[in-house]
Amino acid sequence: MLEKSSIRLPLLVVGLLFVVTTFIALTEAVDSSKFKTCNDLSFCKRNRRVDITDAAQMSLYKHQIVADSVQLKDGRLVGEIVEQDGEVDHVLSFEIRAIANGILRFRVLEKSPLANKKRYQVQDVLLDDINPFQLDVYVAGELAMSANSRGLFHFEHMRNKPLPPQPIPNPNPPEGEEPPAPQQPVVPEGMWEERFQSHHDSKPHGPMSIGMDIKFVGSQHVYGIPEHTTSLALRNTRGEGINENPYRLYNLDVFEYELDKTMALYGAVPLMISHDTKKTVALFWLNAAETFIDVSDSKDDKNVPSKDTHWISETGAMDVFFLTGPTPMEIFKQYASLTGTTALPQLFSLGYHQCRWNYKDENDVKQVDEGFDSNNIPYDVIWLDIEHTDGKRYFTWDKANFPTPDAMQKSIAIKHRKMVTIIDPHIKRDNNYYIHSQATSNNHYVKKADGVSDYEGWCWPGSSSYLDFTNPVVRNWWAEQFAYDKYIGSTPTLYVWNDMNEPSVFDGPEVSMHKDALHHGSVEHRDLHNMYGYYYHMATADGLVKRNSDQNDRPFVLSRAFFAGSQRIGAIWTGDNAAQWSHLKVANPMLLSLGLAGITFSGADVGGFFGNPDGELMARWYQAGAFQPFFRGHAHLDAKRREPWLFGEPYLSVMRSAIQQRYSFLPLWYTIFYQNTLNGAPTMRPLWVEFPSDANLFAVESEYMIGSALLVHPVVEQGQKQVKVILPGDAAKQQWFDIDTNKMYKPGQYDVDTPLQKIPVYQRGGSIVAKKERLRRSSYQMRDDPYTLKVALNTDQVATGELFMDDEHSFNYKKGQYQYRQFRYENGQLTSKSLDTKGTFKPVNTVERIVVLGINNKPSAISYADKPLQFEYDKSLSSVVIRKPDLPISSDWTINFKF
Ligand code: NOJ
Repeated sequence: MLEKSSIRLPLLVVGLLFVVTTFIALTEAVDSSKFKTCNDLSFCKRNRRVDITDAAQMSLYKHQIVADSVQLKDGRLVGEIVEQDGEVDHVLSFEIRAIANGILRFRVLEKSPLANKKRYQVQDVLLDDINPFQLDVYVAGELAMSANSRGLFHFEHMRNKPLPPQPIPNPNPPEGEEPPAPQQPVVPEGMWEERFQSHHDSKPHGPMSIGMDIKFVGSQHVYGIPEHTTSLALRNTRGEGINENPYRLYNLDVFEYELDKTMALYGAVPLMISHDTKKTVALFWLNAAETFIDVSDSKDDKNVPSKDTHWISETGAMDVFFLTGPTPMEIFKQYASLTGTTALPQLFSLGYHQCRWNYKDENDVKQVDEGFDSNNIPYDVIWLDIEHTDGKRYFTWDKANFPTPDAMQKSIAIKHRKMVTIIDPHIKRDNNYYIHSQATSNNHYVKKADGVSDYEGWCWPGSSSYLDFTNPVVRNWWAEQFAYDKYIGSTPTLYVWNDMNEPSVFDGPEVSMHKDALHHGSVEHRDLHNMYGYYYHMATADGLVKRNSDQNDRPFVLSRAFFAGSQRIGAIWTGDNAAQWSHLKVANPMLLSLGLAGITFSGADVGGFFGNPDGELMARWYQAGAFQPFFRGHAHLDAKRREPWLFGEPYLSVMRSAIQQRYSFLPLWYTIFYQNTLNGAPTMRPLWVEFPSDANLFAVESEYMIGSALLVHPVVEQGQKQVKVILPGDAAKQQWFDIDTNKMYKPGQYDVDTPLQKIPVYQRGGSIVAKKERLRRSSYQMRDDPYTLKVALNTDQVATGELFMDDEHSFNYKKGQYQYRQFRYENGQLTSKSLDTKGTFKPVNTVERIVVLGINNKPSAISYADKPLQFEYDKSLSSVVIRKPDLPISSDWTINFKF
């Protein structure tokens, strides 16, 4: 086990030495011609030392620490690094600072920047902008992370563009000889401009890349850096016999993305976590420019297997945070202290969402809504995609198909259901469209490289411009557009979906914005590309808060693009997956990686976006989606209709019970999301987070935990009649309970039968889960329903669990209007007590049933306040069911079990 007591405070040792390393082998060729790989980008090649044949260029990259300059100043270790560029020296300043909670920050910037250029430093991500060669980080006296031990530190100082050398003509060429042709200037390739297919990048600031290697000592498993379609435990991109493209972080709209690729997808979080049996540590590379990361196996000085990583960004400051853990839970807390926790979702948004591109008209919406009722399936939200607008002019409605949008919303709101409409960031260039005309006259658009004309690109509406959400003035203006008197036809039960915010530009390089486009403050797009969608998401969510005069409705905004910190804003989904078994399977590692990187409110399109799933795939996808944080069915415009009832039996029943099961566990989901606001821990977690010392679990991605109580093993293969389930834990203490049968299992490996009706889900012995088991149409209608407590005992006959309750929609919980309770079974007593006496919310619910599993003996009596309670004992299941204890959920009580 990771014994916290055995771990001493991290110790920082600063060594030196920057050495230029030699060439490293070439990477593999790109598999998709539309998108770049490291080999298409000069900055990445220069950092990775790939393909560099010009010795003069290599010599640019010598760095040495100036020994005299290193000093302790105001609690920081500061000093200078000299970058030798041929004859000229450039001075960089570095700073290392220990931040509270076991985090170290390492920053490098030019000592004297050029007068006309600024190096971009990421803003608006850290909660407080807390302001720190070989750098070694020790945890519990042992080396845990080592920066620049391979000498790959690389910092291209800012420079002015060299003038082309002038040829010196020989005034008197020997007779009969032509004067030599004028010499062409030698401008190193890719340094001052670059081309990709038909696109030109003017690169007016020249090379500014940064890079560094980080070794995770003693670790064989690294995780995180979403978004990719690879395994949970990141595989190597370099090493013996391995020569792959590095993991790329560059938000892109990738049409029909492929699996098991390191290529970039819609979002980016530059956080990597390393875990081994002794410790968990992490590295946060705070940079929003295009970034590549290589991963390879290595050994430390004592031959201990370790992981080498190499981080390369095109521009921006070097600003690196070393999180010293040493447990997974402490890593989550440390990272949350930097970038925040997940915004507490409104309860409805944890229910089931029904979407497709597109529900055609108001009647279609009505039919679908009624379909859920007539088929006895609960759901909370119906979504409208881009076709609901007037010609893709967001904030408007197609008048023919959606003539009465407010009446439509009200008719579903009567059933306490909500609607979500899509609002994209590209704005149709139509002078009669108020958003465009105001954006133009207010100068709100991103500019072309000339800094004067509005950037234009092609997207759904045709010719479009892109609002500059990096500008707080534009964000405010955007937020105002959600006011009910501006977004005509919107009502308080309408929420929003932000798509295409990488941003997607159909005719742009790699379907995105030109890197030399200019943002507020003349910041180049290349500097903050990965944050564009984040700022957009932020402005939209702000709009939903501001539209109500009391500002007391928690926003719900789903975004496709994301960056570190997006968790503070809203949910994200994994974009355009396909109706294929392999895509159902990859949802596990993708969502687990997102959760590790702080983005815990995430989901994949249930059913798969492209194509037509058959009944079996749909059924299996609903079963999996019901146990993933964000649960939405969605389909492409050309896909066949696929509301659950269209598949007939047995599929309809399977989908119905998956959704019903989701609703029964809503109290658990809500509580785990609340707990995330306290500890930053993912809601959907890899097994190793809960069982950190079992090395056999470090690469497991076929199953995962919901909080610390449920273990889920979705069925992700066609016709799979049996799956291999691992039930972890110490055989002497741990036991698990199948949630469908209540049957007990000891830790071990099992072949579990998986007929269509079944995916294996187990409650962990030692946990108490609060459920609501009455079937309703939507989450709101369950609000006052009584709870069932499921008490799963461990072998010590102990169990605990928590329950969070509030009004399920407002910010009042921040003012103390909540109940956070703990249930505990121990020594034959089940107690309920308030975990946080600051909470003043008093829900009216009662406990209508208590199920105790794994009880060693039959109780002779069970009583509350000396009054006997009715119960049934089942010997074969070692279970007790107490019916109708009818105790209030919000007060303290104790139930006594007599044996
Ligand atoms: C792309 C999104 O990923 C998809 O979910 C949506 O349906 C289409 N855009 C149309 O808006």
